[in-house]
Amino acid sequence: MDQLDNVAKFLQGKTIFVTGGTGFLAKIFVEKVLRLQPNVNKIYLLLRAPDAKSATKRLHNEVISTELFGILRDKRGSEFDHFISTKVIAVPGDISSLNLGINESKLREEMFKEIDIVVNSAATTDFIERYDVAMYINTFGPFNVMSFAKRCDNIKLFLHISTGNFKGDLPLVIIRPTMISSTYKEPFPGWIEGVRTIDGAIVGYGKGKLTCFPGNPNSPLDIPADMVVNAMVVAMVLHKNHHQTYDDDEANIYHVSSSLRNPLRFSDLHNIVYNYFTKNPWINKRSGQRIKVGKITVLSTANRYSLYMNIKYVLPLKVLCLVNTLSCQYFREVYMDLNRKIKFAMGLAELYKPYVFFKGIFDDTNLKKLRMAAKEEGIDPSLFNFDCKTIDWEDYIMNVHVPGLSTHVIKS
Ligand SMILES: NC(=O)c1ccc[n+]([C@@H]2O[C@H](COP(=O)([O-])OP(=O)(O)OC[C@H]3O[C@@H](n4cnc5c(N)ncnc54)[C@H](OP(=O)(O)O)[C@@H]3O)[C@@H](O)[C@H]2O)c1
Repeated sequence: MDQLDNVAKFLQGKTIFVTGGTGFLAKIFVEKVLRLQPNVNKIYLLLRAPDAKSATKRLHNEVISTELFGILRDKRGSEFDHFISTKVIAVPGDISSLNLGINESKLREEMFKEIDIVVNSAATTDFIERYDVAMYINTFGPFNVMSFAKRCDNIKLFLHISTGNFKGDLPLVIIRPTMISSTYKEPFPGWIEGVRTIDGAIVGYGKGKLTCFPGNPNSPLDIPADMVVNAMVVAMVLHKNHHQTYDDDEANIYHVSSSLRNPLRFSDLHNIVYNYFTKNPWINKRSGQRIKVGKITVLSTANRYSLYMNIKYVLPLKVLCLVNTLSCQYFREVYMDLNRKIKFAMGLAELYKPYVFFKGIFDDTNLKKLRMAAKEEGIDPSLFNFDCKTIDWEDYIMNVHVPGLSTHVIKS
């Protein structure tokens, strides 16, 4: 317990407001805080819901009852539900609305009085169908959360999780993760929810549906989610006396990324995943047969990918379209099916373009400084590990991440 002292001491009696409560990262953060310090005063969790009853329902169905909370559930035994009900308050709201859509004034006033720290993790990460809505939420949402935070009497820190820039006149820490993958160690290895980021391609490949993919073999990918959460918690603790604003100082922007010091490259991922599915093939649900995978064709530029797709699929599809018209829609179903599949593959590629062709390297100097400061404060790096150099990527992808995907996403 000694090793936890600084963090546990800091969290004791604190009230934290977390947005994006049903999100992948926020859940891992909430679980860790409750496990580390049961004497945290309260966690207000903003959930998109029309009223308190629906928010509480979402809290239970989508957060607390997930396997992620299993260790905490076991730890607290029969008093788990009571513990949660006294510590976690489901707040119905929406970051794109005035007052974050928190319409109940009594609750709002309580929050203004109690909140010490705001963790803004809400964002629309699904850009496929609602691009304009996503842009609106991601652009204006953080400012609404900041305005709300400014009305809190005792606010000490605004922790903003983001891919981009943000300014504000409160003590602000920005955590910028790269692509987040399943947990490395905590609360257990391999926790993941939904098919996210590069996993769409891994799942498509494991199911035998992906034979080619665009990607610069040298593009770096991924950081495990619990490492991001560890960096969030440590940054919170070490910035407890932080009074500078973003305008004055960029020292409070933390790139949580492995891209500089221990990158997982697209080409490595491809080889590891090939080895994984060759040894542990998924079973086709309809036929019961093992799905055989081969090496995929990696197109190293967007133009090459587009040319490949046009020659191999789009042109034949156009021919099929013509034949279908001439034959009075005889091939309609085949045409529609192929059209859908090609659109899916091209849509997936379009979605991943910013990542898989990304050549930049994230400067994690500040994260290194945070690690050093944590050490000086006596925070045990093995309990709050966010040192990407400790990741054995091959072992992680083979024995943690893809098995995690199989267990928590594919079979669930
Ligand atoms: N995952 C990554 O690879 C990655 C990489 C870099 C940065 N980030 C950043 O890290 C943060 C957390 O990511 P994540 O992976 O946890 O995302 P996530 O799983 O998609 O969760 C996003 C959360 O935001 C909520 N949300 C969306 N719009 C909202 C609104 N208008 N009002 C209130 N809540 C809203 C969602 O609620 P609903 O359940 O109602 O949709 C969900 O709870 C985000 O800021 C993201 O940009 C993520």
